[in-house]
Amino acid sequence: MAPSAMSRNALLLAVVSLAVHAAFGQNITTNLPQVEYPAFNSTNNDGAANITTYLIENNGPNGTVQTGHLSILHNPIGQFVVLPPAAGCVSTSNGVTTGGRSLTSTTAAAGNCHVAANGALFNVTTGGCLGNLVSNGVVIQAPGTQNVNFGLRNGNFVIGYVSALEAQGRAAGKVPFDQLTSGVVWLVKGGQNNVQQDLPYEDPSTQTTGTIQDFASIVSARTAIGHNAAGEILLLQLDGQSNVRGASLYDVADLLISYGAVNAINLDGGGSSAFVTDGILSSYPSDILNATVNGQTFSFRQERAVTSIVCFKDRFKIAPSQPCDPTSQNPNQCFNAAGTLSICCPGACPLRPGPLAVCGPAVPPTTPSPNTVSASSPTTVTTPGSTTGAPTGPVVAAPTVAPTTAGPVPSGTTATAPAKTSAPGVAAGTPPPCDPTSGNPNQCFNAAGTASLCCPGLCPQTPGANPQC
Ligand SMILES: *[C@@H]1O[C@H](CO)[C@@H](O)[C@H](O)[C@H]1NC(C)=O
Ligand SMILES: *[C@@H]1O[C@H](CO)[C@@H](O)[C@H](O)[C@H]1NC(C)=O
Ligand SMILES: *[C@@H]1O[C@H](CO)[C@@H](O)[C@H](O)[C@H]1NC(C)=O
Ligand SMILES: *[C@@H]1O[C@H](CO)[C@@H](O)[C@H](O)[C@H]1NC(C)=O
Ligand SMILES: *[C@@H]1O[C@H](CO)[C@@H](O)[C@H](O)[C@H]1NC(C)=O
Ligand SMILES: *[C@@H]1O[C@H](CO)[C@@H](O)[C@H](O)[C@H]1NC(C)=O
Repeated sequence: MAPSAMSRNALLLAVVSLAVHAAFGQNITTNLPQVEYPAFNSTNNDGAANITTYLIENNGPNGTVQTGHLSILHNPIGQFVVLPPAAGCVSTSNGVTTGGRSLTSTTAAAGNCHVAANGALFNVTTGGCLGNLVSNGVVIQAPGTQNVNFGLRNGNFVIGYVSALEAQGRAAGKVPFDQLTSGVVWLVKGGQNNVQQDLPYEDPSTQTTGTIQDFASIVSARTAIGHNAAGEILLLQLDGQSNVRGASLYDVADLLISYGAVNAINLDGGGSSAFVTDGILSSYPSDILNATVNGQTFSFRQERAVTSIVCFKDRFKIAPSQPCDPTSQNPNQCFNAAGTLSICCPGACPLRPGPLAVCGPAVPPTTPSPNTVSASSPTTVTTPGSTTGAPTGPVVAAPTVAPTTAGPVPSGTTATAPAKTSAPGVAAGTPPPCDPTSGNPNQCFNAAGTASLCCPGLCPQTPGANPQC
């Protein structure tokens, strides 16, 4: 049962499975269970994901062998992210439909994930994302569907049922989520196998295997995510083929408990189950690809396109220290949430940095300064260095894949800005919204329209090379 040491193997492709997907969300009407648990907050966290991955080979039911992966993320805060599909969730605007499913490996490669697995279930008819999806503080969608969730909020894991209001970051007394994905079936709760107790709570229409009991009982390929007592993330992927080999959800829960899981949920499985290391598929999927090679037809295996993924990645790499512009006399280098962008600020940095680098609310009204916005490449990151401007709020990675849909974030919400405009470099004329918590309404661009910052007052009439207030 002990996991053997990891080797990076790129396996191949293809077939059947659990069509585990899709449903129309019902809203949570009763007070369904939810737990919080502190994620391990590493004091030695330079932004590099600290990951241990094991290859699994266990005895499965009826003489079968269970193979798969167990990956442990030792420093989850900032290094665990949920990403929408590389193409974005399906969205229709002005009659034009964009987005759709992508391979886990495609989304993972675009997101620079060291380890990734398929995430939430999807609508098998439309390819649309199902359930709640918050990526790096951006609410992609938050229908509040009554299925179990796994999220990270202000340094705490949140496992369980989440209303639409809460998923949208508007629930009283709760800060918005940094990361949130839905699944189906709360596998492990408080260190106990929770499958049977949870089944009645789950909206069964999100999956298409059969009854929710069928969904739980059959053997199939599976993907699950949870945490252990140390506050590390456990990501489990098991190969399989529906009704032939793999694991039931009861088995998955027991296996997770043996690996130390305290809470865990089931993600999409069957042909969707995929485990990717550094952009390369490392699992053995169940979907079949018939292909002709050398004049002969062979059955291969192939990865299925899915919607969201869960990802372990470096938050950012510390680059050589680059102090603020020495002529500005502004000592604080304020970073965006990802630590990939920064600007020199006259005052404090925002408590909760968003997708853009902006100054904090307490900006003195005088002395507009030659602020600089660094490029978005992590390799050109500037760091606080000897200045006092270390990022203050929770550190979460920036979206490396700009979602194409902004979720149902009503105006006045405290959720972070819509995703379409989450990075500087957008053309002038489509200004990104200012940090809604900053109270600074004006987004001032440089002359090229390639960089901007939130300003407490008016923008300059003649913008220069750098954005200025
Ligand atoms: C999938 O999309 C179709 C078409 O919009 C819709 O009728 C159906 O309810 C959706 N299924 C789920 C599970 O949301
Ligand atoms: C659930 O509630 C939210 C917020 O009130 C609403 O936006 C959404 O349309 C509701 N969803 C369903 C499926 O009724
Ligand atoms: C990674 O995590 C392991 C397990 O907690 C720990 O022993 C090790 O020191 C960590 N490595 C780094 C570079 O922080
Ligand atoms: C094991 O085999 C028996 C007999 O064929 C069958 O009834 C049972 O469903 C199988 N169990 C699993 C988990 O496949
Ligand atoms: C993690 O710990 C650091 C201090 O080491 C603290 O500044 C930071 O706020 C903590 N992060 C969270 C999310 O609790
Ligand atoms: C692949 O070939 C097998 C055997 O000929 C057939 O049953 C199956 O439907 C084919 N699958 C696909 C995806 O074409």
